[in-house]
Amino acid sequence: MQAIVFGASGGIGAELVSQLSNRTGIRRLHAVSRTGVTASRKVVAHTADITAETDLAHLAADLKNEDDIRLVIIASGILSDGSALQPEKSYRQQTMQAFERVFRVNTFGPALVARYILPLMSRSGRAVFSALSARVGSIGDNRLGGWHAYRASKAALNMLLRNYAIEQARRNPEFIVAGLHPGTVDTGLSKPFQNNVPDGRLFTPKVSAAHLLSVIDGLTPADSGKCFDWAGTEIPA
Ligand SMILES: NC(=O)c1ccc[n+]([C@@H]2O[C@H](COP(=O)([O-])OP(=O)(O)OC[C@H]3O[C@@H](n4cnc5c(N)ncnc54)[C@H](OP(=O)(O)O)[C@@H]3O)[C@@H](O)[C@H]2O)c1
Repeated sequence: MQAIVFGASGGIGAELVSQLSNRTGIRRLHAVSRTGVTASRKVVAHTADITAETDLAHLAADLKNEDDIRLVIIASGILSDGSALQPEKSYRQQTMQAFERVFRVNTFGPALVARYILPLMSRSGRAVFSALSARVGSIGDNRLGGWHAYRASKAALNMLLRNYAIEQARRNPEFIVAGLHPGTVDTGLSKPFQNNVPDGRLFTPKVSAAHLLSVIDGLTPADSGKCFDWAGTEIPA
């Protein structure tokens, strides 16, 4: 089968590419990033920004003759930028610019990926379309508050994934759509916020990616539309 990873240059995305490319069941792996990643025997590098519709249209045109695309993982995401974009502690810190930036990458980008890539995926048999969400996107699990734009962008992403699950089940009952929480992972995204992470709970990208792939392996159509953490435990909506 073939697989596609978006956000392939990211901490978790790069590791997913590396581990998937070592799997014998994967014939070809399409690694999509804004900057371009190194191609290899199995890995085809594509340059696209998931927030740019023209980029995704070009990518879809490049992939339109590919068959057996059975796995998509969107590992793109943004939380802060070390400058003006910082997770909000209070509603007083909210800005339209922050909402627009965060929702573009975390919510609207994956929605555009769905628009252009779902039609290319296998229409029969098991296939998985997944996006890295976050536990903080759970409304039911929210006890701390804060991080308004990021939390809301992931909650909205989870809603979209649920919608795609319903839509895809009508076409292919074996299709699975899922949100995945990777744990707290030592990447550029989490770096400024690692102070309060308890000992032993900060995963390397390698450990997180291995967990995520084993969760994906275990998903069934009954799981479609839901969100799971790195251990395979369902996260409430
Ligand atoms: N690290 C954690 O602790 C943690 C916890 C919970 C959830 N997550 C989620 O896991 C996913 C991967 O995160 P990560 O930790 O691997 O982060 P990362 O190392 O910062 O990678 C994120 C990737 O997102 C892609 N991206 C696409 N458009 C972007 C834009 N406009 N601005 C910034 N980045 C953009 C980039 O890849 P390209 O250049 O290849 O496009 C970037 O490398 C995200 O969805 C994040 O929300 C992470």
